[in-house]
Amino acid sequence: MKIGILISGRGSNMAALVDAVRNGEIPDSEVAVVISDKPDAAGLVKAAARGVETIVNERRGRTRQEHDAETVAELKKRGVDLVCLAGYMRLLSPSFVQAFPNKIINIHPSLLPAFPGLDAQRQAIEAGAQASGCTVHFVDELLDHGEIILQKEVAVLDGDTPETLSARILEQEHGLYVAAIKKLVAQCSDSTAKPRMPVAPQL
Ligand code: GRF
Repeated sequence: MKIGILISGRGSNMAALVDAVRNGEIPDSEVAVVISDKPDAAGLVKAAARGVETIVNERRGRTRQEHDAETVAELKKRGVDLVCLAGYMRLLSPSFVQAFPNKIINIHPSLLPAFPGLDAQRQAIEAGAQASGCTVHFVDELLDHGEIILQKEVAVLDGDTPETLSARILEQEHGLYVAAIKKLVAQCSDSTAKPRMPVAPQL
């Protein structure tokens, strides 16, 4: 599995994925490239420190489609077959989603479908939720929508602020994202191991 990771900021999930690929926890995989739409994303330094190729592709007055077309071209050039969004702060255009059908996944800091969009941890606190968490899901053309792969619950504690809750959710995000990709890699190896057509019994 060749993985491409898209980031906009800190890149702690990206670093967790690169490390899990490197130490073999995610088997049979390689992180081919990390692409950021922000030149000052701290994650770029983390990726480079791990020896992963990095690319900056800023939006710069182009349409969403033009910007996405360049990102898709860079991913395709490297033979990427799984795109992981890790704190990538842009909604993908339909043509991006269609270029990688069922091959784009995202991590979101809530138990989707609850609290999609920005500031999910603040939303959970303001709604008085007793639990929130994180979700890894397939990406479709809607925001924080698409089939759920794995979720992990995190309790909302009395006195939690968006910062304290975010920190506890983030601790769970890294492991959940790794587990979700392991699950996809396992499904992938299963389907290639099994013959597509039933094998005729030997007479
Ligand atoms: C994480 O909370 C993730 O769930 C959300 O954006 C944040 C990214 O953090 N989509 P990081 O850049 O991976 O540290």
